[in-house]
Parts: sequence; C-alpha cells; structure tokens
Amino acid sequence: MQQAPARAFNRLVTLGWNRAARLYNTPILQRLAYRPPQDEIIAQLALNRAQRIVDVGCGTGILAARIAADLTPEAVYGCDVSAGMLQQAISRSDRVEWRRRRAEDLGFPDAAVDAVVSTHAFHFFDHQAALAEFHRILVPGGLLAIVLNNPSSRFARAFQPTPIQGLAYFPPPSEMRALVEAAGFTITEQRPVQRHPIPPTLVPDVVTVARRD
Ligand SMILES: C[S@@+](CC[C@H](N)C(=O)[O-])C[C@H]1O[C@@H](n2cnc3c(N)ncnc32)[C@H](O)[C@@H]1O
Repeated sequence: MQQAPARAFNRLVTLGWNRAARLYNTPILQRLAYRPPQDEIIAQLALNRAQRIVDVGCGTGILAARIAADLTPEAVYGCDVSAGMLQQAISRSDRVEWRRRRAEDLGFPDAAVDAVVSTHAFHFFDHQAALAEFHRILVPGGLLAIVLNNPSSRFARAFQPTPIQGLAYFPPPSEMRALVEAAGFTITEQRPVQRHPIPPTLVPDVVTVARRD
C-alpha cells in the first residue's frame, strides 16, 4: 500500500512523545504553554458552530476532550501517531473518538468533517501532505485552525537548533499563509496567541485560521 509522505525522523519524534506522555500533563506546563492556544481554538469552533471536529496531533487529548465537553458537537476525533500520548487521552474522555493516525493520512472519507484543528504539532508534520489531507477531509467552507510557534522570535529559535532541524520545522507566519493558501484554503485570520500577562516574545505562538475553498 502506498504511504502518505511523512517528515524525516517522524518515527523518532513519535518515540520521544511516547516517553514524554506522562510529564506532558503537568499543570504549570499546561497553563502557561498549552491552554491559551486551546482557548483560541475553542472560540473559533464556537463561532463557526462546527459539528464534526478533528484535533490532529492531539497528544494527551486535553483540547479534544475540552471541545467535546464545552461545545458538545456531534463528533470529536483526536488523532495522533504516538501510542503513549493516546493512552493518556483515552482515559481522559469517552466522548472523543481517539485514532492512532498520522496527520498525512487521517483515514476519513472525503468531505467528512467541518473543522480540522491542531495546536503545537504542525511543525512535526509533512506540511504539504498534511494540508492536502486536511483539505480532502474538510467540507467546502470548512474551518482550519492551526497554532504553532513563530520561529522569527529569538526564544523560539532556542528550541530549534540546527542539528535537529530535520525533526521539526516551524514555518514563519508568512510562509504558513503561503502553504495554507497553496493547499486550497483562504486565510481569514492570523495573529499571536494572547497569554496575559506573559508577553508574546516569551511564548511566541501564532494562530492561523482559514476556510477550505
Ligand atoms: C507538542 S505535542 C502537542 C499535543 C497537543 N496538540 C497539545 O497542544 O497539547 C505534539 C504531538 O504531535 C504528535 N505528532 C508528531 N508527528 C505527528 C504526525 N505526523 N501525525 C500526527 N501526530 C503527530 C506527537 O505524537 C505529539 O503528541
């Protein structure tokens, strides 16, 4: 069977996340780093009244479980390659359908979902293959919302040293726009995630929101 392309070393990345799964839920890490982007995504989904939602690179499932609990949509799917992360996710919510899938090959039928969201995981994906897959599974007009670090900030660069560049790549906001548009989406919004009182220079993540053409 032909396989969708994957970012180089993605198996290694998965191994790392299998090991990191337990530490990942630490309240301080979640509050400072991961909760604010999740708030942004929940707001976008609420605004768009999305009913069938996929969280790609869902990790330990905090966002997908929140979506299911707060918005009570028809269906929420949490997809991730790491069995270790999904193990944590499964015990978090039985209202989410958890799937061990790669972003580049999510396994849904064409035009099956209203929204695809992803927080702090897109840098691990093969960008073009993943965006093509998101486009395929979304209904026309469907919502795409992706949060990832802006590599132009000095702080973010510290986490992306040259020797491990193959493991992950953070497209800067302008490159992200170009990638998303080239995949058949129209950008509706792109701005830094708000994290009061922490300045955006410290955790410089950006949310990119688009509609499938
Ligand atoms: C930093 S965690 C983010 C988890 C979650 N989205 C959050 O914000 O808390 C990155 C996740 O991406 C997953 N991942 C890496 N490469 C992937 C791929 N190609 N397809 C799906 N998930 C992937 C990892 O297993 C890991 O769980």
